[in-house]
Amino acid sequence: MTEVTVIGLGPMGQALASALLAAGFPTTVWNRTKAKAEALQRDGAKRAETPGDAIAGSDVTLINVVDNDAVDAIVATAGDAVAGRSIVGLASDTPDRARSTAAIVEGLGGRYLDGAIMTPVSTIGTSSASILFAGPRDIYDVHRDVFDALATTGWLGDDYGRAAAYDVTLLDLFWTSIAGFVHAAALARAEGIALSDWLPHAQGMAGILPPLFTDFTERIEHDRHDHASSTLSSIRTSLDHLISASGTRGLDAVALRAFRGDVDRAISNGHGDDEVSRLAVDLAS
Ligand SMILES: NC(=O)c1ccc[n+]([C@@H]2O[C@H](COP(=O)([O-])OP(=O)(O)OC[C@H]3O[C@@H](n4cnc5c(N)ncnc54)[C@H](OP(=O)(O)O)[C@@H]3O)[C@@H](O)[C@H]2O)c1
Repeated sequence: MTEVTVIGLGPMGQALASALLAAGFPTTVWNRTKAKAEALQRDGAKRAETPGDAIAGSDVTLINVVDNDAVDAIVATAGDAVAGRSIVGLASDTPDRARSTAAIVEGLGGRYLDGAIMTPVSTIGTSSASILFAGPRDIYDVHRDVFDALATTGWLGDDYGRAAAYDVTLLDLFWTSIAGFVHAAALARAEGIALSDWLPHAQGMAGILPPLFTDFTERIEHDRHDHASSTLSSIRTSLDHLISASGTRGLDAVALRAFRGDVDRAISNGHGDDEVSRLAVDLAS
C-alpha cells in the first residue's frame, strides 16, 4: 500500500492523518510542535524527526500547514530530501503562491501537486469532503487511492494555481456572506429583535440565493443585464436605508458603503436600469 507522509498537524492535518490511518495507509507524520503527533502515534502513525526524514520516508507527502510561506519553509528545510518525491501542498493560499511553491519544489528536483480543501475537518474521510487538485495529472492519477480515502476529489488542470483560484473565489463568497450575516445580526439585536425570531427569516433569505446565482451567472457570461428583477437604482435606495439604519444604531456600515460605491459608479456610467450582475463585469474590467 502507498506510504504517505502528513506534514502539519493542526485540526485539518490531524483529520487527514486519522483518515489515512483508518483506511490502512502506513502513515508518517511531522509537525513543528511535536506533541500534536502523540495521539496519532498511539493510533499507529510513525513520527519523523525532521521534515527531510518525513518526506524521504514515503511515496507521497501531504503538507497541510497554515499557508504557503510555511510550506516553502518546510520544503527548504527538507532540501535534498525533496528530490524525486511527490509533494502535495494542501495549505490555503493564493494562486500565485501555489505556482511559486511548485517552482521551489521542482527546483529541488521534486514534483508538485496543489490541492484546495473545500470542506471542514468534520467531513474528512467521508464522501462529503471535497478536495480540488491542480498540477500534473499523472501525480493525481497515481495517488488517487490516497486522495479517495480523504474526500471526493477533482482535478482542475495543469495550472498549479487553478485549485487555489477556486479556493479564493469560493472563500470570497463565503466570508462576505458571513460578514453580511454578522452585521445583519448585530443590527437586528440593536433593534431589539430576538435572534431566534429573526433566524428563520435569515435562513429563508439564504434560500433565495442559489437560483439568483444561476440567473446572474448566465447574465454575466452573456454580458446581458437588462429586464432587471431589481434595478441598480432601486438597490442604491435600499442600501441608503440600510446604511442610515445602521448609523442610527451606532453600527459601522463600511461594507455596505463600499458596495454602494460600486453601485454608484455603475449608475453614473448609465447602467441604473440594469441588474446587479452588471457589477461583476464592471469590477473585472
Ligand atoms: N480547519 C479547517 O476546517 C480547514 C478547512 C479547509 C482548509 N483548511 C486549510 O488547511 C490548512 C491547515 O489548517 P488547520 O485548521 O489545520 O490549522 P492552521 O492553524 O491553519 O495551521 C496549523 C498548522 O500550521 C503549522 N505551521 C504554522 N506555521 C508554520 C511554520 N512556519 N512552519 C511549520 N509549521 C507551521 C502549525 O504547526 P504548530 O502546530 O507547530 O503551530 C500547525 O501544524 C490551512 O491552510 C487552512 O486554511 C482548513
